[in-house]
Amino acid sequence: MTDRYAVFGNPIAHSKSPEIHARFAAQTGQDIQYERLLAPLDGFAASVRAFMHGGGKGANVTVPFKLEAYDLAGELTDRARAAGAVNTLSFENGAIRGDNTDGVGLVSDIVANAKVAIGGRRVLLLGAGGAARGVILPLLEQRPGQLVVANRTAARAQELAAQFDGRLQACAFEDLQGVFDLVVNATSASLSGDVPPLAPGLFGPQTLAYDMMYGKEPTAFMRFAALHGAHVRDGLGMLVEQAAEAFCIWRGVRPATAAVYADLRSQLQQP
Ligand code: ATR
Repeated sequence: MTDRYAVFGNPIAHSKSPEIHARFAAQTGQDIQYERLLAPLDGFAASVRAFMHGGGKGANVTVPFKLEAYDLAGELTDRARAAGAVNTLSFENGAIRGDNTDGVGLVSDIVANAKVAIGGRRVLLLGAGGAARGVILPLLEQRPGQLVVANRTAARAQELAAQFDGRLQACAFEDLQGVFDLVVNATSASLSGDVPPLAPGLFGPQTLAYDMMYGKEPTAFMRFAALHGAHVRDGLGMLVEQAAEAFCIWRGVRPATAAVYADLRSQLQQP
């Protein structure tokens, strides 16, 4: 029998996950079905349970339900606990296991795809919301020389640093100094076409400026960083890599990602 998976969100029509997982399934010969499910804003847990009791094997979770998914899971991986959020659920004998593949997706895209090492390097993470918290543990696991988190509301960055036992440093945007090897934008500023107020000197010719958002055009953050000499990359690769990790958790097979990424990129560029 075909195993069923789904992505839950609200809204959900835009999600590329069904297409990505269909490609992974075809490539690896896995017999799965993966659909988009719109959960009501006040009915996430009930929707997931109904899907599970109907035979669903697992689910991805997107905005705005990642915190509710964390609460729903009876069992959590270390990286989900550190993220404080869940984007991947697995169902087994009525038990719900929660994981978070966003951070590992980001790290794979930077290290394996962009071929930029994080170990020993100066890394700056912009933002202190859910998106930032979700990627900290996998970034730390790469053993950066320094991980600095900067946020518009400096107190939120300090709270985040405290949650990770001081393994990263909090800093206000205006107090940041020196060139960083990697700058990751985990703020939602790109959604409104804004750029956090960053000094141009934070970027150099060795810097990779990575925006976790993606779109047809480079984000305002990417344009700003490129103007000041940095290499730039958007979050499309992170989307594909987090999906590959989820697929691997569910099916025990790691799909290849390059062709799927290339196709999504060319679809994005189409008028
Ligand atoms: P998410 O789950 O996407 O991280 P969030 O928890 O609302 O969403 O966090 C949004 C992040 O983007 C925060 O770090 C926010 O800064 P504040 O904590 O000061 O609110 C940041 N952010 C949003 N718009 C921004 C802007 N225009 N400039 C700089 N930072 C911005």
